[in-house]
Amino acid sequence: MDSNFAAAELDTHPAGELKYSRTIADLPCPKGRWFFGNSLELRGRQSHLTVAKWIREFGPFFRFDTMGTQLVVIADRDTADSILRDRPAGFRRSKGTKVVMNELSIGGVLTAEGDDWRRQRKLVMGGLSFEVVRNFFPTMVFMTERLMQRWKAALAEGRAIELHRDMKSLALDIIMGVATGHDLNTVGDDEKLLVDNIDSMMKRLEQRLVAIFPHWRHFKLPVDREVDRSIANVKQTLMAIIENTRERMREQPDLHQKPGNMLEAMIASSDNPESGFTEHELISNAILNVIGGEDTTANTLAWMINLLAENSAAAAALTSEVDMVLGDAAVAADWEQMKQLPYLEAAHSETQRLRAVAPLIGVVSNEDCVVAGIFIPKDTPIIVSTTGEGMDETYFPQHEQFKLERWIFEQKPHKEDDPARKLFPFGGGPRMCPGRFLALTQIKLVISMIMHNFELELEADAPPVEQVMNFFIGPSAVPVRLKLRA
Ligand code: HEM
Repeated sequence: MDSNFAAAELDTHPAGELKYSRTIADLPCPKGRWFFGNSLELRGRQSHLTVAKWIREFGPFFRFDTMGTQLVVIADRDTADSILRDRPAGFRRSKGTKVVMNELSIGGVLTAEGDDWRRQRKLVMGGLSFEVVRNFFPTMVFMTERLMQRWKAALAEGRAIELHRDMKSLALDIIMGVATGHDLNTVGDDEKLLVDNIDSMMKRLEQRLVAIFPHWRHFKLPVDREVDRSIANVKQTLMAIIENTRERMREQPDLHQKPGNMLEAMIASSDNPESGFTEHELISNAILNVIGGEDTTANTLAWMINLLAENSAAAAALTSEVDMVLGDAAVAADWEQMKQLPYLEAAHSETQRLRAVAPLIGVVSNEDCVVAGIFIPKDTPIIVSTTGEGMDETYFPQHEQFKLERWIFEQKPHKEDDPARKLFPFGGGPRMCPGRFLALTQIKLVISMIMHNFELELEADAPPVEQVMNFFIGPSAVPVRLKLRA
């Protein structure tokens, strides 16, 4: 921690005289190469690990250089929090990321700014609120149980279970269910075409974001044609659902006043010329939902399964908790049970600390400003680490280890000692992840179902699991077998 700079000291008043004690040039910077700077070290699928290594080496405030552009990294929790809170006025998302995402038809609220963002955010938040998730809980239980029955049948018939792909299917079914009221049942689809299409979009997104030359704007390679086909398939599925919903809303016009889910609310808005919500925004938010809702939650679940399989003491503690709460039921069926799982919540926090799926958030300053005593000129790209202090030995002794006890307290700790304050896996401020209630509920429901019904068996001789970045970070494999519990 850099104690010379008061954390959260954030001055964003362009008209006034800005007071600062150092400039970006004064910040430490990893040694780079001629012309390329540090960009070559960041090209692989593990660039987040390079940034994490630099945080350990240079501390919570440093810069790096990508071919002449200086990027500032902020890993100090309070300063990061202040930046994330000062959106959309003080900081925006990067325009380069927005352009690449929009080329792949991904955008919506995630890449919108100003009034466009406010309008879309209201609709998305309304569709994923705590209340909405609680009302949708019985359907989530049904979908989780459907997956469990499929796994039990697969084990009885000696068929292999693909845990990571099944997590993606379930996440897709759940987000589509809550947002549109449709049951896609991709869990029951052996081909998993839609899951593969989304995988292809995420892979291409990551490759294009780090590409030195944007070849796809000049000529298309087979991989670019493949992603075009994936986008067309995803759009076709969503357009059919949108058309179907429109038809229903024509038959029941009162749904325009009282929409039952996010899609109905968006259609009602796009049908109202005064709302400013366009057809294009409707489709891009529908695509964003399937992408944002699928990979994030599925990757977190996949990491959690790996970590629990590797840590038998933690798995045993979690199993006793879940057995006590669920009793004779195979799957949690009562919303209240979701509040009785402190070890499961601890397992989620430990997973996000050690294997965050979104460890870095990119922002750009809208004006000249001062952040923690550093003068930041207008249009400076900044990377905020959501887990920067999670690997700090002072706050998390034996930080490499997966230990649930560090999150279990007899009494809630004082604000300063609360480890939960050190991490913010869902971001912060007004743009904080609107899917967090849904994701956390799904994670509790699925992990409690797994621990209550199955044992996790680590595959012997499996190669080490790597962290792979496809925009979100996921495991290269889930080398874990499910065994039915006695
Ligand atoms: C474990 C699961 C998840 C994690 C770790 C996660 C993480 C994040 C993070 C770090 C951000 C950026 C927040 C910021 O800029 O401050 C974000 C934004 C967002 N997430 Fe999630 N997310 C998860 C699940 C979901 C789900 C299930 C949805 C449902 C569709 C979702 C939809 C979104 C959207 C739409 C945004 C953009 C919000 C905006 O810009 O206003 N996420 N998420």
